[in-house]
Order: sequence, then structure tokens, then C-alpha cells
Amino acid sequence: MSRFDPHSWTDDTQPVTRHLDLDWRVDFSRRRLAGRAALTFTEPGDGPLDLDARGLEITAVRTADGRDVPWRVAESESVRGDRLRLDLPADTAGVVVEYAASPEALALGWLEPVQTAGKQHPFLFSQCQPIHARTLLPCQDTPRYRVTYTARVTVPQPLRAVMSAADEGCEAAGDGEQTWRFRMPQPIPTYLLALAVGRLADAELGPRSRVFAEPETVEKAAWEFAEVDHMLRQAEALFGPYAWDRFDLLVMPPAFPYGGMENPRLTFLTPTLIAGDRSLANVVAHELAHSWTGNLVTNATMNDFWLNEGFTVYAERRIIEALHGPEVMALHAAIGRNGLERHLADFGPDSPFTRLRTDLAGVDPDAVYSLVPYEKGFLFVVLLERHVGRERWDAFLRDYIDTFRFRSITTDEFLAFLEEKLPGVYAAVDGPAWVDGPGLPDNAPRFVSERLERVQRLAAGWERGERPDPDTVRDWLPEEWQIFLQGLPRPLPEADCAWLDTTFHLTDSGNNEILVEWLAIAAASGYAPVLPRIREILSTVGRMKYLKPLYKALLSRPETRDFAREVFESVKESYHPLSRGAVAGLFEDTGD
Ligand code: BES
Ligand code: ZN
Repeated sequence: MSRFDPHSWTDDTQPVTRHLDLDWRVDFSRRRLAGRAALTFTEPGDGPLDLDARGLEITAVRTADGRDVPWRVAESESVRGDRLRLDLPADTAGVVVEYAASPEALALGWLEPVQTAGKQHPFLFSQCQPIHARTLLPCQDTPRYRVTYTARVTVPQPLRAVMSAADEGCEAAGDGEQTWRFRMPQPIPTYLLALAVGRLADAELGPRSRVFAEPETVEKAAWEFAEVDHMLRQAEALFGPYAWDRFDLLVMPPAFPYGGMENPRLTFLTPTLIAGDRSLANVVAHELAHSWTGNLVTNATMNDFWLNEGFTVYAERRIIEALHGPEVMALHAAIGRNGLERHLADFGPDSPFTRLRTDLAGVDPDAVYSLVPYEKGFLFVVLLERHVGRERWDAFLRDYIDTFRFRSITTDEFLAFLEEKLPGVYAAVDGPAWVDGPGLPDNAPRFVSERLERVQRLAAGWERGERPDPDTVRDWLPEEWQIFLQGLPRPLPEADCAWLDTTFHLTDSGNNEILVEWLAIAAASGYAPVLPRIREILSTVGRMKYLKPLYKALLSRPETRDFAREVFESVKESYHPLSRGAVAGLFEDTGD
């Protein structure tokens, strides 16, 4: 017996699932997703089969040809969830499980109509990464395995279902319902299975792309993301042909807990990207980049998560560089570096969670989610690139993607490939210190750009009384604002906060990166006039990247702790379970 993934009960001596066929009905009034999941194996097998499950209400398990399959929940762990043990009779080609997901399933966000733009209809979305697919269906929930899938999803009219799959049309199901059909021909790890249901409209963005959103949002979304086809072509020029046929976007209601999620064929996005000036399109570039790094070449387990995110941040910034030039790419790298340094400081100098390769046995990956795999990973890839030169590096990258496409690899497998193709480089750049050592090694690459230096110097001069001149900042990019705010001392005197806000109207910023950076400074400085705007954001936005710094800033001052508690108590029921858990953790950390 061999369990190779600390976050899955999957045992590689047992049958392997290669296809899922799903038949689900979505009942909003009971928050119930129920139906059947049929698993087909690579070859007929028998004996024990351990599946991942969590909170599933199972009513029957049969073989594909209708024989009863004995089953029980053999074991449960807090991180891994339930071990669903099936005893397969001889020659079992597949199994059919009848079940319902729990209304509390961590993969599902059930939104009330008031949480949508249209306010008339409810909304449902899934988020399976990293280990929540098991709350949606019993499966071998490890990224080491891949499945194709087909699905039928029955939803109330006039709602539409969309999935990370090809749309195969819909038919009336009677009783005011409609069944939407899907087919996913490319094999994916289960964390990329995705579903959303809501009142959706769509707009064309290009020959391979369209955007889905609520009718109230779709026009603005189409404008904001109009560059996507251009991005897609840039990305193909860098990383090779796009393997997933379509690259559609789905703009969620604001409760979505992430900025973006790279569900294949249908990237999920937070509406907080709609700034009105296309300034947050890097998140689309990031999710697009996952089409190569992450979705084609996938991390084998969450211990290798940096292979997904580090390479994707690198690929994202190569796309940014191709579209907007090296100067803008340097600004993005600086924003990432500032964020990384904060997260490294939060973990502490020797924390094992600041290594690229982690050992997360017994650790909930959501609880240690940070910028380390993203930004330390990015810097490591840049270091490799600079060591061998861009031309050789780009050839290596293509080769890497071609070699491992539709496969999932460990850090060791990556390092063996690196050594084979670029011998000696890993040692020459002090690779072991990056991959298995904590913190940020001294040879971390730096980015030089005049714009970047100017804005960093200005922020560093704040305490000496230097102030941005309203004339110079007129042509600042949103990225420069972000870097400037990141560089300011914290806390600031209240008078400084007042000056900043009256001079630059930061509280009214339409760019949520700038806005949240500013609100966090203001809250950490005890500047009370921003509290109503903070309440508004905490009550509507579920994106953890914004919730966490705002709550942290409020909790850092005794006089705003009650405010933070009161806001959280009043809105927590509307948060996605992941966001609720993340914020509750912050209150525990402060002993509040
Ligand atoms: N795949 C991630 C989101 C994720 C990671 C969800 C781990 C659950 C567990 C996605 O590609 C991502 O990284 N999103 C970022 C965007 C970014 C770095 C530009 C986000 O949501 O902020
Ligand atoms: Zn990512």
C-alpha cells in the first residue's frame, strides 16, 4: 500500500479513476447538490478502493453493471477528511455513487439574491483547489491523477450552469428546471473541476473567448477584459499552442474568495478586477498562464505547489512584459517582492512554510496559503533564467512544458529534468537554499527601473517630510501608487492620513489594490474616517486577499477591535466558508 499524497487517501496500488460522469441537481432552497457520480477506472479491478470524501451523504454504491458494492467511512482526519472504503467485487470497471453534498461543503459558495448584482436570483459557485473536490463528490482527490468528465446539471430556470468543460447545450427538465450538459475532453486533476450556477449573460471577446457575468455586469466586464485574445496570442508565442480549445472568463459575485481561479476553459474571476481602466488585467494573465504551468504541467501534491504558482507568476510577468514592456514588469515584480517580505516576516525567519518545497503532512494547505510559493518561486525562476540567459531558458521552458504536458510532477522530478537539460545550474545558483531552505537567499534577483526607483525613494523619504507632488503623480500608473503606499511607514500620524486622503482621494479609488492598501494603512494608523468604507468592503467582498489585511489592520489597534468583531459577526453568514474560516483564524491569533 502506498499513499503518496499527504492530503489524499488515494492509494496507488488500487484502481485508478480515468473518467467521471456526473448527474447533479441543484436545489437552492435546501442548499443541496445531489445526484450521482460514476467513476470509470483505467482497467477493471477488484478489492479495496479508498476514495476521498468529506461530509457526503451517501445512499448507494453500485458497480457500473449494477452489483452492490459494500462501503463504509473507514477513517476520518481533520485535514484529509473521510476515507471512503469501497470493496469492489471481481472485475469492476467502474462504480456509481448516489449521494448528496453537505450544505456546508467547503467547495461551495451558496449566495443569496442580495449578494448578486441583479438581486433577483441566487448564485452558486465551486472552488475545489486545493482539497475541496471531495466535498462535492467522492473521488481520488490528488493532483497526481487526472480525469476527463461529462456532466448533466439540473438547475431552476432561468438560471444557467457553466463548468470547466465544453458546453453541450441544455434541455427542459420539467417543473421549471433545465438540464445543462458538459463534456471535458482534456484530462484534469480533480481540483480543476468547477461549476457555477446563476443568472448569466455572455459577451464575445475573441474567436476563442467570451466572458460570462450577470447581465448587470457583463458589459463592463467585456470592456475590462477586452485584451484577452491579445494575451492569449502572446502567451502562445511564449509557451506554445493553447491546449484547452477555449479560454472563457466567468465574473463572479463579489463573495468569491479568490482573485482568480484557473478552472480550465473557464477562468473564474472576482468582480473586484473591474476597475474601469483595465489596470488589474494581470490577474487574467496569471490565470491564463496556468493553462501551461499548473493545468498542463501540474504539481504532484501541495508540497510542490510552488511549481504551479512560482512558474505561473513568472509566465504572467512574461506576458505583462510582452504587452507593456520591462518597466511595467519591474513594477509588478516590486509589488510582489513587497508582499513576499511581509509574508516572510509573518512566518518568521526559520519557518518551514517559507521553503519552496514544503512538507504539509497534517497541515491544512489553506491555513498556510501565502505569497511564498508565488513570489519566492517567481524569483527562483528569474534567477535560473538570468543564469543561463533568456534564449536558453525559453527553450528549456518549452521543452519542460512539452515533456510533462498533461502530467503531474514532484519537485524532485522537476529538479532531475533541470539537471539533465541544464547540468550544473541548480548548484551554481545555490538551488538547495531556495528549494529546501527558509527565507529569501541573498542572491535573489533584483529589478531595476527608473520609475520604480523614483517611487521607492519618494516613499522612503516620507519621514523626512518628502511628499508626492500632485503634478508628478498625475501620470503615475496604478502600480506606482501601490508601490508608494506599500513603502510608507505604518502607522502614519493621523494628520498624514488626512493629507493623503484629501490630496489624492484614495478612499474613492476604483482600483481595489490601491484602495485596500490605503485602507489598511489608514486602519493601522487609527484614522477613523475610513471605517465606513472598510465596513462596506468587508460586508460585500469575499476576496481573502482583501479581507485579511483589513481585519488584521483593525485588530492591530485596541480601539477598532470591537468594530472588527461587530462587522464580522454581522456579515459572516454571507461569507464563503473559506473566507469565514480565514477571518475567524485572525480573531483567534489575536486572542480576541
Ligand atoms: N490557483 C490560484 C488560486 C488558489 C490557490 C486557490 C490555492 C486555492 C488554493 C490562482 O491562480 C491564484 O493564484 N490567484 C491569485 C491571483 C494572482 C496571484 C494574480 C489570487 O486569487 O489572488
Ligand atoms: Zn495561480
